[in-house]
Amino acid sequence: RPGATVTHGGGHGPASRAAVPVTELRGAAAPGPGGVRRAHVLTARKATVRLESGRDIDAWTFDGTVPGPRITATQGDLIEVRLVNHDIDEGVTLHWHGYDVPCGEDGAPGVTQDVVAPGGEFVYRFRADQAGTYWYHTHQTSHLAVRRGLYGVLVVHPRGEQDPGHLDLTLPVHTFDGTVTISGGAEHLAPAGTPVRLRLINTDSEPHRFALAGTSFRVAAVDGRDLDRPGEISRHALRLPAGGRYDLVFAMPSTSVALAVDDHAATVRLRPGAGAPDSEASAPDTTGWPELDLLAYGTPAPPPLRADAADRHFTLVLDRGLAMVDGAPAFAQTVNGRGHPSIPDQLVAEGDLVRFTVVNRSLETHPWHLHGHPVLVLSRDGKPASGSPLWVDTFDVRPGEVWEVAFRASNPGVWMNHCHNLPHAHQGMMLRLRYD
Ligand code: C2O
Ligand code: CU
Repeated sequence: RPGATVTHGGGHGPASRAAVPVTELRGAAAPGPGGVRRAHVLTARKATVRLESGRDIDAWTFDGTVPGPRITATQGDLIEVRLVNHDIDEGVTLHWHGYDVPCGEDGAPGVTQDVVAPGGEFVYRFRADQAGTYWYHTHQTSHLAVRRGLYGVLVVHPRGEQDPGHLDLTLPVHTFDGTVTISGGAEHLAPAGTPVRLRLINTDSEPHRFALAGTSFRVAAVDGRDLDRPGEISRHALRLPAGGRYDLVFAMPSTSVALAVDDHAATVRLRPGAGAPDSEASAPDTTGWPELDLLAYGTPAPPPLRADAADRHFTLVLDRGLAMVDGAPAFAQTVNGRGHPSIPDQLVAEGDLVRFTVVNRSLETHPWHLHGHPVLVLSRDGKPASGSPLWVDTFDVRPGEVWEVAFRASNPGVWMNHCHNLPHAHQGMMLRLRYD
């Protein structure tokens, strides 16, 4: 088909080596005990989409909407998604961001599957074993395609916990042509006392700052994973890295509540009822609120991994400049002085305890993201994490910072390991972690 381009090597970047046989590491074919099969068809196609602001944009969509259809399941269900590409010439895949699927379901084009060209399709199947807030997006030319709309939400509820009296809002934030949007509705009613959960998702390449005014709250989960006994806080801002998620919980007060993104670039308002009294939330000034330090938040517990006993230790120095890329010098976002696809693979063995030291020598923030494994944050700039064990799939390494993280190599295959500022990944800041 003329115009179709199939690039290889993870799809965030330029072409590289051919696929390896991780394509056979596929997910379960049946739900777990008590689970059901949740089947979806997602069709990638171009469409004109009306934003909640009333503005029309030329988008790349799943099923004609941005975000794409919301996928929900209960722990133990089988998620089965048939991806069909109607007219995205660049090709598409589905990557389940933060979800530890078997490698063959991971959606890294040229690595775990061939890209799905127009007229083609691919069926993803995996068991929803992890509860929490996740999202999906294409992994092909994603610095353009995700920005244009090829993403959606994945929420998995814990088994047995389905209370119809709760207000559970999924709020993906996305910037279209410079306009910050939150999907899910700008205004909601919640009678006083209603238990509320707000699932914040950053689908952009830059961090966003959130402020919740008019109530105290807890950060119940980060990147889909529950924190240990998180304390009640108020008048704190939250910085959410590219690709990251926070679940905020609180009981609805008798006055209104407002969630502001980037000091009111976009706002979601909750009201206890028509005509209820307003609070500070009607026009909160949140600019001076301190940023919550998640590394010191929640209740400490014995560290789930002993980092001093690591089997492998990798250091990743992030920078930008001239680098060897595919045998020739080029300007790139670099890891250890090289750009993708010229960065050597990281080799691990199943069962290894792996430690990463990530050093940012550049002047930009790099939201680091490893596929297929959550990582435990050990320290930031030499300051040990002192709160709840903090498992994340994306961590924001700001200019000059050094982060230490660790994880257990328990999900065999080949996994992309990259900056989730997707233009940076496209410019070389991406490598692969490979099981021996
Ligand atoms: Cu959310 Cu490799 O990406
Ligand atoms: Cu980056």
